Amino acid sequence: MGFKEGFLWGGATSANQSEGAYNDDGRGLANVDLSPTGESREGVLMGKIKMFDFDDNCYYPAKEAIDMYHRYKEDIALFAEMGFKVYRLSIAWSRIFPKGDENEPNEAGLQFYENIFKECHKYNIEPLVTITHFDVPMHLVEEYGSWRNRKLVTFYERLCTEIFNRYKGLVTYWITFNEINMVLEAPFLAAGLYIEEHENAQAVKYAASHHQLVASALATKIAHEVDPMNKIGCMLAANAPYPRTCDPKDIWKAKQVENQSYFFIDVQVRGEYPGYTLKELERKNIALPFVEGDQELLKQHTVDYVGFSYYSSSVVSADPEQTGTIGGNLFPSLPNPYLKASDWGWQIDPLGLRITMNDIYNRYQKPLFIVENGLGAADIPDSNGYIEDDYRISYLSEHIRAMRDAVDYDGIELLGYTVWGPIDIVSASTGEMKKRYGFIYVDRNDQGQGTFKRTKKKSFDWYRKVIATNGQDL
Ligand code: BG6
Repeated sequence: MGFKEGFLWGGATSANQSEGAYNDDGRGLANVDLSPTGESREGVLMGKIKMFDFDDNCYYPAKEAIDMYHRYKEDIALFAEMGFKVYRLSIAWSRIFPKGDENEPNEAGLQFYENIFKECHKYNIEPLVTITHFDVPMHLVEEYGSWRNRKLVTFYERLCTEIFNRYKGLVTYWITFNEINMVLEAPFLAAGLYIEEHENAQAVKYAASHHQLVASALATKIAHEVDPMNKIGCMLAANAPYPRTCDPKDIWKAKQVENQSYFFIDVQVRGEYPGYTLKELERKNIALPFVEGDQELLKQHTVDYVGFSYYSSSVVSADPEQTGTIGGNLFPSLPNPYLKASDWGWQIDPLGLRITMNDIYNRYQKPLFIVENGLGAADIPDSNGYIEDDYRISYLSEHIRAMRDAVDYDGIELLGYTVWGPIDIVSASTGEMKKRYGFIYVDRNDQGQGTFKRTKKKSFDWYRKVIATNGQDL
């Protein structure tokens, strides 16, 4: 019983939330650099406020983030000390192709990631690489309208060909797009889409989604051709929508919300669009930008495993009077009276993780990989600078227990588990440093002050013990 031998324990970060060094060594500007903290952030992420350049009145946390670009050796050594078997990170597209449409890559960018992967292997840590964690070079946004344009598929293909060849033997586990279903929720954050007033927002988002799905299938094809050992995953932001009541209308509403996200994974795993999406788009008079060969490509190059993030469940209702929403990973949710919530209003539901694992596994029968899970909290150091984050330990141990039950009792094949932000990084939804997920504290605040010094929290030793006992001692 318990996790199998070789289970991949570790942590996950993204380039834009950790690296900083936004214009070092030839890196180009990306959409993710242009998300300010404060009031306008949500509008920017949602593609409603146009911010294609820095505004002197705003603060942009991604510019320096936690300076991992210069400190990755120290950080990977700390991950190794915890016993990580895997480290999930993303590459910044604009480090490798600063504008996105060049024919030749930027060697400094390629070398940077090669150094990171070699550093991981020094400690027997397997890198798990997200090719796109929300980032798009700004040149592609301004010049081509980002993923609404078919040309992005070609540029992405160029990126993939480059990295699969360059990192052959160094990287085996890949994810094509982080939380691909976020395109519908936060189009600028997830796909560099600013929606013009005259545009049909749904049509733009579904066109971009189609292009990403085609790009993902193409990446899968190339990855398998370059190295048959490569394992390619899709990645879903799972939000477990529960019906508010047993009124069949609420049940149906929850199914519809769930399908809106599953549609992406249906295509990536089964290789074809589900009927419910095709019918919905037909009703809305939205034509998907299929070109010759897309159908075969999607069908022939499906993913090897299903990666997903899970932080909390949500509650939905068919009743338009039910409006009081509570926070949660950009998915709106009604309050759940049975659950407690984090400081940011994300409802804490470990059993929801087991439910989600069952839903996904029973739908696709593919190995799962939990590539994000964790608790964002406002950690307060004591007078010695130490953080006793028992609340984080409790959140994670409950979730690992639920995940173990899914393996032991429900027979789910699970490849690994990477805790989100094992070192404190910038929050994607709020841009805050104050919202911390890490086992390692980083001295940096929301005003951009601090020394970047890394300090172990109480949870650091706890996670080391969890990994050492393969998830038995929680
Ligand atoms: C996921 C993203 O949505 O949730 C991460 O893939 C993000 O990039 C994480 O950081 C946690 O969200 P937040 O807003 O608390 O940083």
